[in-house]
Amino acid sequence: MPDASDVPSDIEIIKQRKKDGIEIPLQKNVQAKATSTYLEYVKLVHNAMPEIDYDDIDTSTKFLGHKFSAPIIIDSMTGGTDEATIINGRLGELAEKYGLGMGLGSQRAGLKSEELAATYSVARKNAPNAFLIANIGGAQLAKGLTIDEARKIVKMIRANALVVHLNPLQELVQPEGEPRYKGVLAKISELAKSMDVPVIVKEVGAGISKEVAIKLEMAGISAINVAGAGGTSWAGVEKLRAEAMKDDIKTHLGEMFWDWGIPTAASLIEVRKAVKLPVVASGGLRNGLEVGKCVALGASMAAMAYPFLRAAAMSRENLFAFADTIMAELKSTMFLVGARNIPALASSRYILTGALAQEVSSRT
Ligand SMILES: Cc1cc2nc3c(=O)[nH]c(=O)nc-3n(C[C@H](O)[C@H](O)[C@H](O)COP(=O)(O)O)c2cc1C
Repeated sequence: MPDASDVPSDIEIIKQRKKDGIEIPLQKNVQAKATSTYLEYVKLVHNAMPEIDYDDIDTSTKFLGHKFSAPIIIDSMTGGTDEATIINGRLGELAEKYGLGMGLGSQRAGLKSEELAATYSVARKNAPNAFLIANIGGAQLAKGLTIDEARKIVKMIRANALVVHLNPLQELVQPEGEPRYKGVLAKISELAKSMDVPVIVKEVGAGISKEVAIKLEMAGISAINVAGAGGTSWAGVEKLRAEAMKDDIKTHLGEMFWDWGIPTAASLIEVRKAVKLPVVASGGLRNGLEVGKCVALGASMAAMAYPFLRAAAMSRENLFAFADTIMAELKSTMFLVGARNIPALASSRYILTGALAQEVSSRT
């Protein structure tokens, strides 16, 4: 029989799961396989006579009362391990220097100890003025995470907003997952009424439908991040974990639902039409041209997770070079459609083609 010192503590189990959550996306290919964002079906119309100088282009924008130098958010990712401390430190520094938003990973772990809390709060240390977004899970809310705990999570990073992530697919495939969502809407509504910061609701790679968006708007939240299909697959991440743990059913489910979800562009278009709330586009965005397309489709902000993780894990220099490239791509897109600023980009003409056009016209 193992003695107590052989049994991993709660904190050690959390640390290992968080470690997997960074290492699997970095070391294995867990991107969408047979689906995509559908952003390749969005064509922005070329303007041969832009009547603007590249250097005069202004990418700044406002979201939830905060000014950003570009409509870009580093999407919610990590915390809870030593590696996460380095990554969150670098991402925080980038958010501060470039005027971008940044989401932290699910912070329930940070409630367990000061040591774990520091793996998140390092972002605020490096980003005293940036728009930082705290993170809790919808499943944890449904299970009984209290308003008081949510307030502690916000305080941990002096957050400007709180995100609730909805991840039913991940909970389903995760070997230790808790696929229990009963009562989640009432909890989100209570949270929206009780917090002093705006509450945003996001998916983690399977998209938000118009039906869900309408319920969320009625619950009083402040913004929706669609985080659709076409990028990082959490069914994929959890499938690999299930395989390593020899959980055959979860491995099978992970493979079957690897590409499950609403492609990002389709989710963005239907949520944009269904609600008045600001919408954040995320899920598989990989460059500044795609950021530009999302803004043209009606997104207030665009978020990316995996590309920032990959760059940040390599080096600080790599991360900053990646951000420079995205900014140049976004500005180039604006130049080529003749948009001097973000409102002009938001009203620029686009054409929907192929599977996206079909999907949009068949979604009633
Ligand atoms: C390493 C990693 C960790 C993530 N952890 C979280 C998390 O803790 N909370 C959350 O809301 N989303 C989390 N996500 C999901 C992202 O915020 C995003 O919604 C999703 O990955 C789609 O974006 P992408 O295709 O650009 O990666 C994570 C993503 C990655 C890549």
